[in-house]
Amino acid sequence: MNKRVILITGTPCVGKTTTAKALAAILDAEYINLTDYAKANGLTLGEDKERDTLIIDEENMPQKLSETINASNKDNVIIDGHYASAVTPTEHVAHVFVLRRNPKELKQFMEKCGYTGSKMWENLQAEIIDVCLGEAVEVHAGRVCELDVTGKSVEEVVSEILDVLEKRKTCFVGVVDWLGMLEAEGITDQYLKE
Ligand SMILES: Nc1ncnc2c1ncn2[C@@H]1O[C@H](COP(=O)(O)OP(=O)(O)OP(=O)(O)O)[C@@H](O)[C@H]1O
Ligand SMILES: [Mg+2]
Repeated sequence: MNKRVILITGTPCVGKTTTAKALAAILDAEYINLTDYAKANGLTLGEDKERDTLIIDEENMPQKLSETINASNKDNVIIDGHYASAVTPTEHVAHVFVLRRNPKELKQFMEKCGYTGSKMWENLQAEIIDVCLGEAVEVHAGRVCELDVTGKSVEEVVSEILDVLEKRKTCFVGVVDWLGMLEAEGITDQYLKE
């Protein structure tokens, strides 16, 4: 069976898990949340206390993921995580969807997710300077879809992904320019200050 592996990536709190689970339900896909997967498979190396995040064993995760993908009896495997691009072996990957959210809206989402202070600003800055998109393109060039999910419902985002998967739409990289937007509004320093 030829399995289709789909990565859903993007800055923390952008909406990956909500989107990926909704998509997985529609496609009857195997769903892998990388944080849960790392914990369940002993692929953590401890805790980054300063950032309050788990340190992931990025060296051993690709091999383990490969085994899980090969062992799956599903046609579609959806991998959800902000470092999905880095740890999923390229030979498996069919599509990488990088969810993007306007930093003004993302800030509100992050506050709702419980982010504060330097952790929030660090993640917002990662969104502004396209960190996840850059990682996706670096590793999976030609398979990357950048989706601006700002103001869209989960259903709308899933529908856009299905349009690409079912070849009704082609996808692009270079669809958002948050830095340009912040500059045009004269508020860059509010976001890049810390
Ligand atoms: N399209 C959407 N419209 C409105 N709210 C959304 C949408 N997608 C996700 N949310 C909400 O945004 C918050 C973050 O979503 P989610 O947990 O899916 O993000 P994530 O990218 O998986 O975050 P993390 O990186 O922490 O795992 C949740 O409260 C979720 O309900
Ligand atoms: Mg999540």
